[in-house]
Amino acid sequence: MTKVNTALSIGELKLANPVMVASGTFGFGEEYADLMDVNALGAVVTKGVSLEARRGNPPPRTIETPAGMLNSVGLENPGVEVFLRDKLPWLRKIKPAVIVNIFGSTIEEYGRLAQRLDGQEGIDALEVNISCPNVKQGGIAFGSDADLAYQVSAHVAKSCHLPVLVKCSPNVTDLVAIAKRVADAGVAGLTLINTLRGMAIDYRTGRPMLGNGIGGLSGPAIRPVAIRAVFEVCAAVDLPVVGCGGIVQWQDAVEFMRAGACAVQVGSATFRNPKTANGVLAGMTAFAAEQGLHSTQSLMVTAHAKSVPTGDRKEPGA
Ligand code: FUM
Repeated sequence: MTKVNTALSIGELKLANPVMVASGTFGFGEEYADLMDVNALGAVVTKGVSLEARRGNPPPRTIETPAGMLNSVGLENPGVEVFLRDKLPWLRKIKPAVIVNIFGSTIEEYGRLAQRLDGQEGIDALEVNISCPNVKQGGIAFGSDADLAYQVSAHVAKSCHLPVLVKCSPNVTDLVAIAKRVADAGVAGLTLINTLRGMAIDYRTGRPMLGNGIGGLSGPAIRPVAIRAVFEVCAAVDLPVVGCGGIVQWQDAVEFMRAGACAVQVGSATFRNPKTANGVLAGMTAFAAEQGLHSTQSLMVTAHAKSVPTGDRKEPGA
């Protein structure tokens, strides 16, 4: 069986493998320590962290849907100081890269957060959340305007020495135009996509089922939207893309890489089966070996080629 190298770099961010867990689906990591092999992940992306603690939105905050779930958590988190004091010490001890997802209400707040997290032992990168659909200020307001998306991204990149990923929203008319602007902001890569705005109404009462009314849809239902977003952005923008949206099994992750993603994030599937990300890496690596590929990165981008390239597959008799 071919030996498969799973390592990759996204700018200065070094990963042992391309399988991460998505922000908001994995707490601050420790919650999953007894449920799956955290150390087998490429990276842990934390729940969004803001300067001050946030109480989040009123319950109910999650609703199961036919092919996924709606959430409106409202970025509840303990604030950056409690994160540094109580959560980071555990994260320092794990093998995967630690990517801190950050969120602010103003561009200045994003910058102050980046400065506060910069140079902290155990933090390998930041993921800038400009795509949360569940808050009134910040979030998607920054991610749906190309100039604002650029300004936030550039401000964070200038405010720290860490590699920066920018998590973009699918709830926009022209994601490619936004991605092109963000690509000029000095960031290391993009995470595509966050949730799609959605809603559920109780037919008996006629009332919205989420406490906040509208929320974000994730799960297998959104995977074709995410694949299309990754495919279109990778065709237009020369920046590494991390694919996210509806990954349940390793075949889904390979599909993202075929579309051009260099890495993937497993999101709400972790709620149903905490070991999902472990299975995704194992399956993807076995598939690459079966295909005669020497690296998981060789699985990338084939959907863009007119004819499917062989990557580093050995020719018969070679
Ligand atoms: O409501 C939430 O905490 C969701 C955040 C997000 O989708 O980025």
